[in-house]
Amino acid sequence: MPASDARALVAAARRARRHARAAYSGFKVGAALETSDGTIITGCNVENATYGLTVCAERVAMFKALSEGHRRFKRVAIVADTADPTPPCGACRQILWEFGGDLEVILANLRRETGRHSLSVLLPLPFDSRLLK
Ligand code: THU
Repeated sequence: MPASDARALVAAARRARRHARAAYSGFKVGAALETSDGTIITGCNVENATYGLTVCAERVAMFKALSEGHRRFKRVAIVADTADPTPPCGACRQILWEFGGDLEVILANLRRETGRHSLSVLLPLPFDSRLLK
């Protein structure tokens, strides 16, 4: 089966990346989350002078979406200006899994798509609420 068209989602992540507040690392990231009804919610990384309070683009997108009432998600696109794919960090994988389940994760740079992965492949053997029963 051909890979589904993610151009609009990747384009939204590229636009969101322009809003990144990356004064300390200079590394700008954009993310775009697609809900089950096709709504696109974006995020960018937001850094802070304490460094440790930095929030990644993916978590900004997910927290925005949750705070607006979205509950079901299909895919997330992540864009950085790197030749190699920029995959989500471990903390973002955990948050995306908790609220998005086995999302399709689409990686891209400013020019092209650089990879697609299931979140369950990026986060094997997750800790999640099933273990808290
Ligand atoms: N960053 C993201 O926003 N998403 C990722 O998937 C990887 C890292 C941000 C955090 C920080 O602002 C900068 O990139 C460098 O780590």
